[in-house]
Amino acid sequence: MPSLQIPSDIAALVDYEKYAKQHLSEQAWAYIYGGSADEITARQNEQVYGQIKILNRVLTDVSQGHTQTHLLGDTFAHPIILAPVAYQKLAHQDGEVASAMAAEAQGGAFVLSTLSSTSLETVAKSGAGKKWFQLYFQNKREHTLDLVRRAEEAGYRGLMITVDAPINGLRNREQRAGFTLPPGVRAENCIHYQDSQSVEKGASAVFQGLMTSAPTWDDIEWISGETTLPVIIKGIINPLDAREAMDRNVAGIVVSNHGGRTLDTLPSPIDVLPAIRQVVGPDFPLLIDSGIRRGTDIFKALALGANAVMIGRPIFYGLATAGALGVAHILRLLRDELELTMALCGCSELSAISSRHLWHK
Ligand code: FNR
Ligand code: LAC
Repeated sequence: MPSLQIPSDIAALVDYEKYAKQHLSEQAWAYIYGGSADEITARQNEQVYGQIKILNRVLTDVSQGHTQTHLLGDTFAHPIILAPVAYQKLAHQDGEVASAMAAEAQGGAFVLSTLSSTSLETVAKSGAGKKWFQLYFQNKREHTLDLVRRAEEAGYRGLMITVDAPINGLRNREQRAGFTLPPGVRAENCIHYQDSQSVEKGASAVFQGLMTSAPTWDDIEWISGETTLPVIIKGIINPLDAREAMDRNVAGIVVSNHGGRTLDTLPSPIDVLPAIRQVVGPDFPLLIDSGIRRGTDIFKALALGANAVMIGRPIFYGLATAGALGVAHILRLLRDELELTMALCGCSELSAISSRHLWHK
C-alpha cells in the first residue's frame, strides 16, 4: 500500500523511484519503467540533459519572478504538464483521479490517456482543473469520433493526438517479466469499442494487420475538421513531420519519443528540438517530454525552444509512493527547482530563458 505521507528522506524526484519500485509488482514495474528493445533511447533520454551545460548570470534582480505561462488559451502557474500515461490504477487505486487532482492543486495541466483506467467522464467530474484528452485512433472511425465527442461533452479543453505508437514497441522487459493487466485495471474508455482484426494466412501481422487501421495525415485533417477543440500532435521527432503538422494547421506539437517506448535508438527530443523550433518558427506552441526529471532539465528545454514540458513515468512514481500527494509533491519539487535555476540565471520569467543561458564549447 502507498503511504499517506511523503517519506521524509525524499528530497528530489529521483528519490521517488526507489519507493515506487518497492510498492509496485515486478510486472507493473517492468511495464512502467521499461522502454523499447534494449532501452537505449529510454536511458539516454534522462542522461542527455546532464550533458547540456547552463551558463548562469549573476547580480540580476529577480524579485518579481514567476513561472506563469499561457498555453492554448489557458493560463497555468507553471509549465509542467502531466503527460498522458495509461492504466494509472496500476500504481494507486485512485489512479487518474488522484493525478488530475494533483495537477489541479499545483495549478498545472493534466492530459488523460485514451487508455486510462478511469473513464474520461469520471475524471472530468472529479475536479475543475484544466484537462486535455489524449486520443489514440480506434480501429473504426465511428469509435474514434465517439471518443472525441465524449471528451468535448465532458469539458476537455484540447485534443492531444499521439501519432508515434500506432503499434506497440518491442517491450522485451515486459515480455520477460510476463506483464499483463491485473484484474480491475482496464481501458475504461474503450470497453464498448472492442473489435478484432484478422490477417490472412501469409500476410504480415504488421503491414496487413495492425497498420491497416493506423491513422495517416489525412485522418488528422479529418478529425481536426470534426472538432472545435485545439489539436496537438504528440510524438514528433523528425523536423519534416513538424513541417507536415504545421501544414495541417494543428495548434501545437509535442516533441517526444514516447519515453523511449516505441522505436529504440531514436534521438532524444531535446537533441532535435532546436531543429524543430527552426522549422515551426518562434511563435508556434512546442511541448517536449521524455526524460525530464529536474528543474534544470525544464530550464534547458525552454532554452532550446520548448514552451512547456510533460512528465510521464514520474506520475507513477508519485502515485505508487503516496497517491495524489506524491504526484503533487513531484510537481512542486520540479517547480521549485525550476524557480531556483531561473533565479541563479537571472531570469524573472519563462520568456527570458534563451539559448544564451546555455554554454556552447
Ligand atoms: C506512456 N506514454 C503514453 N503516451 C500516450 O500518448 N498515451 C498513453 O496511453 C501512454 N501510456 C504510457 C504508459 C506508461 C507506463 C509510460 C511510461 C508512458 C508516454 C508518455 O505520455 C510520455 O511521452 C513519456 O512517458 C515521457 O517520458 P518520461 O517522462 O516517462 O521519461
Ligand atoms: C505505452 C502506451 C500505452 O506507452 O502508449 O505503454
